[in-house]
Amino acid sequence: MPSLRIHLLLPFFLLWAVATVNALHFYLDASEKRCFIEELPSDTVVEGSYRAIEWSDNEKKYVENDNLGILVEVDEVATSAQLVRTRGPHTGKFTFTSVDSGDHSICLSTNYTTSWFSSNTHIRLYLDVVVGTSKPDLEHDRSHVTELAQKIRDLNNKLEDIRREQQYQREREADYRDLSEETNSKAVWYSLVQIVVLVGTCVWQMRHLKHFFEDRKMR
Ligand SMILES: *[C@@H]1O[C@H](CO)[C@@H](O)[C@H](O)[C@H]1NC(C)=O
Repeated sequence: MPSLRIHLLLPFFLLWAVATVNALHFYLDASEKRCFIEELPSDTVVEGSYRAIEWSDNEKKYVENDNLGILVEVDEVATSAQLVRTRGPHTGKFTFTSVDSGDHSICLSTNYTTSWFSSNTHIRLYLDVVVGTSKPDLEHDRSHVTELAQKIRDLNNKLEDIRREQQYQREREADYRDLSEETNSKAVWYSLVQIVVLVGTCVWQMRHLKHFFEDRKMR
């Protein structure tokens, strides 16, 4: 009953998605600082991405302003240890790993100086906070899995190639060994034959000389 199983699993997926992704948007004035409290277990990777757009009176809409920068500060509430303090552009990312479990404050503010156009600056900030290393993006995960499977297949093919190459080398080495053994034994036989011939020649020559001298003596 696959449909029943999907119905049973779906709430879990939704719960998981809600638990791990916090996507929100809010408004900020130039002098304002917004903080969020996130309760985290220890050794958890948190990735945040933000995008800030500013109200433009001329264009009558929110637009990206390159003069706008965002300051991100992450503190451990219990020990007030600072984990992140970055000054980035209007669109950016930050990551940190929690050390201890407990509440963590994530604060965002602009880098505009307060005295400037604080009266008429309106900033809309989008913030995504992903807790844990994997995003529950199923489509992405699936493509990632097929990518991984493809990589494993490629690796296996390479391994197969290497094994074939090794087999070939081993066969060549065996051939070479056989050949050199054959050559060696031939060389040994050849030397033996040479020695026999040499000894034979010596014996024959000595006999010949002996006869020669005997013949001369007899004359
Ligand atoms: C704020 O940050 C942006 C982007 O980093 C930078 O271009 C701008 O000069 C900064 N403005 C101030 C007032 O520091």
